[in-house]
Amino acid sequence: MDNRKKIVFFTGAGVSAESGVKTFRDHGGLWEGHSVMEVASIRGWNTDKSKVLKFYNERRRQLNEVEPNDAHKIIAELEKYYNVVVITQNVDDLHERAGSTNVIHLHGELIKMCSSKSKEKTLPYDKDIEIGDKHEDGSQLRPYIVWFGENVPKMIDASNEVEEADIFVVIGTSLNVYPAADLIKYTKDECKTYFIDPNPSDGGGIKDFTIIQTGASEGMDKLKKLLNNEKDI
Ligand code: OAD
Repeated sequence: MDNRKKIVFFTGAGVSAESGVKTFRDHGGLWEGHSVMEVASIRGWNTDKSKVLKFYNERRRQLNEVEPNDAHKIIAELEKYYNVVVITQNVDDLHERAGSTNVIHLHGELIKMCSSKSKEKTLPYDKDIEIGDKHEDGSQLRPYIVWFGENVPKMIDASNEVEEADIFVVIGTSLNVYPAADLIKYTKDECKTYFIDPNPSDGGGIKDFTIIQTGASEGMDKLKKLLNNEKDI
């Protein structure tokens, strides 16, 4: 039984921006060259599998060129003091590479691929997937990504974690994509809530977040000091 305070981080593309991974909706973001529905929806997959595979093969290769930044590292370091859970919308593995041990990926993981029939049958995505590459169940291999039009099975685990949070920290997400964005509704009344983002959305005005309006690394440094001052560390 872990009696330490539970701190839950809910992260989006912004936590990886300083590592060189482009966000989705900022200027210069990934979506600019690609329509979301073409490359990140089940309809897009059914329409043009080659285009979708090319897109994710490129994303996967980019992972080898990026490193965790200070935000990922401070989050991991806080495991010394807290029961830390990271819920991320990101498909990169930078939280894990920084040392976080309890990460829930709501939208899948770029380091895994799966059968087209079932996401439960994952394999390491360690080389490009080509058309005709089959899972042992006979179906085309695909990236282990939750596309628009698919269920988000990890929402249940994630919302359970948020309900138990003493401290809830949102970092670098526009809160545009559902059901993920609904997670902010699950905090208990006494939970302290923080939002680190240079351009924070108001989250629909649902929560009275303490806003730390800056990039993720500087924001995490400030948060760590705040927690220290409030004797939360
Ligand atoms: P967005 O691109 O929608 O939002 C990125 C957020 O990061 C914005 O609020 C930016 O202000 C913020 N940001 C930019 N630079 C930052 C920095 N240095 N530090 C901190 N924050 C910074 O990305 P998400 O909200 O993560 O889903 O997008 C959610 C989902 O939309 C993704 O998981 C993906 C996409 O469709 C799927 O692929 C299913």
